[in-house]
Amino acid sequence: MSETIDFTPLSAADHQAVARLLHHSLVDWYESRLRQGHRFGDSPEPFTLFPAVYEALDPGECVTARSADGSILGVCFSHERPTHVAVGIVATSPQAAGRGLARRMMARVLEKAKALGKPARLVSSLLNLDSFSLYTRLGFVPGPIYQDLLISVPENGLSAAAPAGLEALREAQAQDIAAIADFEQTHQGIRRDKDFAFFLRNEVGSWRMLLSQPQGQPINGFLAMSTHPSFTMIGPGLAADEATAIALLWQALDNLRGRSLVFLAPCKASRLVQTAYAWGARNVELHVAQATAPIGIDSKGIVFPTFMPESA
Ligand SMILES: CC(C)(COP(=O)(O)OP(=O)(O)OC[C@H]1O[C@@H](n2cnc3c(N)ncnc32)[C@H](O)[C@@H]1OP(=O)(O)O)[C@@H](O)C(=O)NCCC(=O)NCCS
Repeated sequence: MSETIDFTPLSAADHQAVARLLHHSLVDWYESRLRQGHRFGDSPEPFTLFPAVYEALDPGECVTARSADGSILGVCFSHERPTHVAVGIVATSPQAAGRGLARRMMARVLEKAKALGKPARLVSSLLNLDSFSLYTRLGFVPGPIYQDLLISVPENGLSAAAPAGLEALREAQAQDIAAIADFEQTHQGIRRDKDFAFFLRNEVGSWRMLLSQPQGQPINGFLAMSTHPSFTMIGPGLAADEATAIALLWQALDNLRGRSLVFLAPCKASRLVQTAYAWGARNVELHVAQATAPIGIDSKGIVFPTFMPESA
């Protein structure tokens, strides 16, 4: 392979190629290391949702690595926010792996974050030493650990009794965005009104967002979810306490009857995790929040990270 690599933004004409690259790199990596390539399906088609959503949300922010003939060998998406720069997905074509492409794409994102004076944040698989090593070599520091829980919601809903706290839940609306962002900034030190507005506009992808607000009190939790058939996942979300997290999760799962999906729960949220087990959830992977500044030290609440748009 020629070592002449160009690092350029993405164009709309690249979406199919990026979907193929994401699918190929994930299937290859998880199959060759863990015999779990099947987790990503047979077709790259669902992966077109990632460039479609990311370019609608943050146009021009993706870094691609291209060979001299213009073919895409790597992608690194990022999302600049008032408090931080979120990074993900990062992927390199298996044929070009191990040559520093991911590191060089990430370096561009980190240069931008540094120039802005903001930390970079991401979620990193603890089963993937290549990505963990890539990030820690670049100065990322691990924070809270999350377990990826796979659950199949029966067509007629979870058989377990509904938890307390459902009466405080409702669908989020555009006028709630600032209060949700304030709640997250107070508890987690990050702010991302833009993501919440994107979910509620609901023009690209398919999103819902639940809010917990006990009568006469401020917001004490929110939980977004991607309901698109190409990518069903719960998160991002945050609850002030485990009881609120359980209520939000139960309602989100009830909205996704008949689907199998993954969500991330903090390992330290034992009551939430035990409840998810009781509902039939099984561990499929572990992730760790990583950032170029320490995270999780002063943070409060129960976080539900997600992979689209990646959050930690
Ligand atoms: C993870 C992935 C993006 C890495 O891409 P890559 O282009 O092969 O990575 P690079 O060659 O740029 O960098 C790997 C770095 O990690 C280092 N590294 C790898 N394994 C290591 C180990 N066990 N210990 C320490 N360092 C290690 C390498 O030395 C290299 O750093 P250097 O260039 O400073 O020497 C690629 O394997 C991939 O696409 N995987 C599938 C998709 C995926 O899982 N993405 C991450 C989650 S979204």
